[in-house]
Amino acid sequence: MYAYVLLALAGLIYPAGGKPACVPHARQNFTELARASGLGALEYEVQTDDYYFLKLFRIPGAGPPVLLMHGIFDSADTFVVRGNGSLAAHLARRGYDVWVGNARGSWYSRRHLYLDPDRDDEFWDYSFHEIGVSDLPAMIDFVLEKTGRPRLSAVGHSQGNTIFYVLGAMRPEYNAKIDVMIALSPVCFLNNLSRAVSILTEAFPLISGFLAVAGREEVFGEGSVARVLYEEVCGCGRGYDVCARRLYFPIAGADPHELGPDFFPTVVRHYPTSTSRKNLLHSALLSLRKSFSQYDYGPLNLDLYNSTRPPRYELRNVAMPIALLVGQNDGLSAVKDVEALRDSLPNVVEYVVLPYERFNHVDAVWGRHMNKYLFPYIDRVLQKYASDRNITKPEA
Ligand SMILES: *[C@@H]1O[C@H](CO)[C@@H](O)[C@H](O)[C@H]1NC(C)=O
Ligand SMILES: *[C@@H]1O[C@H](CO)[C@@H](O)[C@H](O)[C@H]1NC(C)=O
Ligand SMILES: *[C@@H]1O[C@H](CO)[C@@H](O)[C@H](O)[C@H]1NC(C)=O
Ligand SMILES: *[C@@H]1O[C@H](CO)[C@@H](O)[C@H](O)[C@H]1NC(C)=O
Repeated sequence: MYAYVLLALAGLIYPAGGKPACVPHARQNFTELARASGLGALEYEVQTDDYYFLKLFRIPGAGPPVLLMHGIFDSADTFVVRGNGSLAAHLARRGYDVWVGNARGSWYSRRHLYLDPDRDDEFWDYSFHEIGVSDLPAMIDFVLEKTGRPRLSAVGHSQGNTIFYVLGAMRPEYNAKIDVMIALSPVCFLNNLSRAVSILTEAFPLISGFLAVAGREEVFGEGSVARVLYEEVCGCGRGYDVCARRLYFPIAGADPHELGPDFFPTVVRHYPTSTSRKNLLHSALLSLRKSFSQYDYGPLNLDLYNSTRPPRYELRNVAMPIALLVGQNDGLSAVKDVEALRDSLPNVVEYVVLPYERFNHVDAVWGRHMNKYLFPYIDRVLQKYASDRNITKPEA
């Protein structure tokens, strides 16, 4: 594992080189991927209260709106890359009005009214905290305004559900705008990480220090050596053995049946996109401090928080209905940690340990058979809690 840490570090620090050799064709964007599955997508741009512009995709439907939010290093693409077998396509075919967000920093949301992501470090001065308190409200209000509805349902994968806990705790008025939030691979407490993830987490403060000194606030930017190296190593011939088996599976949990060599190059083309050093550090600190707390600003904490230590997010304020869907083979979201989350949230309406025993962290977005082992649970929750239940029956 340390080899990967060093490789990543070297790649992140040194400036970009040539083009990747083996990734065969250009990456299709969300709209193109949706079209390839026979679905029409619309594109919107939403401005946050701190002047970021976020791309929001929509596959329109007559039913209630459902907002899908991706995890760390990810983008809206994650919900369409499996074509017809993807969650966005599935929900669209069931008649939902499907909205797919992009957090600041991803390749779709790399724009700001005043800051240039390529020049201004300040653009990257955010973690999942700002995604929760600024990006989510902007997207939610936009969807509600466009649809004229009072509430929406949401599905969050990994950090894409962490941000809803931040939102519900910091801006409690938003709890009433959510019919239900379905958490896939739920991330909040990170106290029982797999060994591989623990090693990365423990190494990260040091890596973060190097990155800060090197002035690298954006991690895995397009054209960075890290991304080029990654595409060359992981997108080529033995990429599956090197990267899926030795890197992804130790982190996410092994499941070669659901993520095979046929699909892995597609993953490499779409994942990861950029995020900020600060987001990674804040995420690592959740685990290292064993506490779901705000960002640690060190000596500035007292001024910012009136406390030398960053305050915990008040999970008891997260009043929105929440469904937790948990995999038994998830190296990041351990069942133990999700149980602790269930016991800390006031309004958990469903808690399901998915019966497919190899279900890992990424099977919830990239799995070959999500229609069998995941979508029925999502359908059931939405059927029960989404405001307007006049949804067409699923195709036979
Ligand atoms: C996606 O691709 C389509 C067609 O090539 C293009 O019109 C659209 O602007 C692209 N959207 C984004 C967000 O890149
Ligand atoms: C996706 O499913 C729809 C409806 O079931 C079908 O018409 C379409 O051809 C499929 N597209 C692909 C690429 O499989
Ligand atoms: C999970 O984390 C909790 C909190 O740190 C700890 O008490 C518990 O022993 C851990 N469980 C396992 C199985 O490691
Ligand atoms: C700051 O914290 C102290 C001690 O916890 C408390 O007495 C005081 O009221 C707090 N001040 C503000 C402005 O919240």
